[in-house]
Amino acid sequence: MLAALPLVAGIAFAQETKQDVTGMEQQRNIEQGAFGTLPDGSEVALYTLTNAQGARLSVTPYGGIIVALEVPDAEGEFEDVVLGFDRLEGYLSETYRQANPYFGALIGRYGNRIAGGKFSLDGKVHTLPTNDGDNHLHGGDRGFDRRLWKAETVEDERGVGLILTLTSPDGDQGYPGELQARVRYTLSDDNAVIVDYEATSDATTPVNLTQHSYFNLDGVTGERADGDDILDHRLTINADAFTPVDEGLIPTGELRSVAQTPFDFRKPTAIGERIEADNTQLARGKGYDHNFVLDRDGLDENELVTAARLEAEHSGRVMEVLTTEPGLQFYSGNFLDGSLTGKGGTTYGHRFGLALETQHFPDSPNQPDFPSTLLQPGETYQSQTRYVFSTNSTTGESETTSN
Ligand code: GLA
Repeated sequence: MLAALPLVAGIAFAQETKQDVTGMEQQRNIEQGAFGTLPDGSEVALYTLTNAQGARLSVTPYGGIIVALEVPDAEGEFEDVVLGFDRLEGYLSETYRQANPYFGALIGRYGNRIAGGKFSLDGKVHTLPTNDGDNHLHGGDRGFDRRLWKAETVEDERGVGLILTLTSPDGDQGYPGELQARVRYTLSDDNAVIVDYEATSDATTPVNLTQHSYFNLDGVTGERADGDDILDHRLTINADAFTPVDEGLIPTGELRSVAQTPFDFRKPTAIGERIEADNTQLARGKGYDHNFVLDRDGLDENELVTAARLEAEHSGRVMEVLTTEPGLQFYSGNFLDGSLTGKGGTTYGHRFGLALETQHFPDSPNQPDFPSTLLQPGETYQSQTRYVFSTNSTTGESETTSN
């Protein structure tokens, strides 16, 4: 077992603090390096976790951001498959803050939108910052994606990991109660990134934590990267219904069948196939930016369901998303417009990456018929999502067998 690496503030980190986690798995490794400095002078680290297969996951305690994730393709070539920046400065730049894509970040206290930035609890109205038109989005102006979390490394039978903790004070961004949040990232030896979320509060409060990584499974830094997009990725979503939205992307309350709509991903379908269809919902989202109601029939709320499967045409990489959550926001990167240049100099053009955000439904605090997001004092919020990587040998470019 690897001892926790203390997070030392105020001094420069040794550039590469390498620790070999020995035993059978020679390649398992955890490195801690410097990632940058916040305006208040806090030093921010970058942890790189390597599993026994050589897959690598890099996470910074700033925003709990997944900065890089390298997984193999059908030929065993490792490439980074998530959008982000090489240095902390990229995430702090004015251009980035204006665009606000939440690359790789942990989102809290509430992933997605709350209508009008208001909800009431026991007759009291709580007011939250409105940072998306008239609505509250992803926890507000200073959500969990902009906090410096405490970090501790871990290595056990599940894999190599990082445990992040954050105390959100009573009244933080308008939310009641002091919330203790804990997120564990684990990279398992079978190439799964497991995210375990936990939270407790001393007063009743809504909680809906999620992860906002953008994926491009064909790789984000290689030769093909510039100018590429995710429209040829094939997506399957295990949902018979979605929650249609109004002009402000707030659910109307209806659970609408996906049948005969561009939202039917029950069979693998290229994302680009229907994205430009003449459809009011697609027009409102400027593409896909909708919550899907996962088919959890027969499952307890703490059981994982396979929510989605994403397959990349060129590389043969496959990602499955499993979750204990009831919903999945599929966002097709509609707001990416080429104004951001990320890792290795790649320009993030329109729909260069996509997000699959496991969550409770948007605006649940104002929607009595949606599954509740309220956390009560004495209870523990618990949620798990797994991103499982493999390859599809039949979709690899060199192995196409039929049509
Ligand atoms: C979520 C929202 C989108 C957008 C992105 C970030 O997916 O639903 O509308 O805000 O985050 O740009």
